[in-house]
Amino acid sequence: ELQPVALTINGQAYHLDLDPRMSLLDVLRERLHLSGTKKGCNQGACGACTVLLGDRRINACLTLAIMHDGAAITTIEGVADGDGLHPLQAAFIAHDAFQCGYCTPGQILSGIGCIAEGHAGSDDEVRAWMSGNVCRCGAYPGIVAAIAEVAK
Ligand code: FES
Repeated sequence: ELQPVALTINGQAYHLDLDPRMSLLDVLRERLHLSGTKKGCNQGACGACTVLLGDRRINACLTLAIMHDGAAITTIEGVADGDGLHPLQAAFIAHDAFQCGYCTPGQILSGIGCIAEGHAGSDDEVRAWMSGNVCRCGAYPGIVAAIAEVAK
């Protein structure tokens, strides 16, 4: 049975009737066509699906959309300020913090959360708190450098 769910995504209000078994990730991608949030493992191991719930990072594949009725979610589509990149997006470009780019939306949201949560005081701390976001291209040095620079 479908359930009514209200979500605010990137500042826009959505009223949806959802299968209660749908993950937040599938709602973002399949229902709202916000395909910037990526599906890697679909089981909480890769971080490609990271979004922000308020200021806090969550793996959108591990949570049901109906659990977030009334919540505010930020995806990669919502981090830029109009045509102006978010500072962390600009820093990723400056530091060559991606190669294929598949993990990048999750890396950026996780990095924004890492900074907002106060866990970006040193490169080691950034590495520890970003350990849930996997990059198969091995762009980790650039990712850490970009986050550490914006956190300063
Ligand atoms: Fe969610 Fe991998 S797709 S952690």
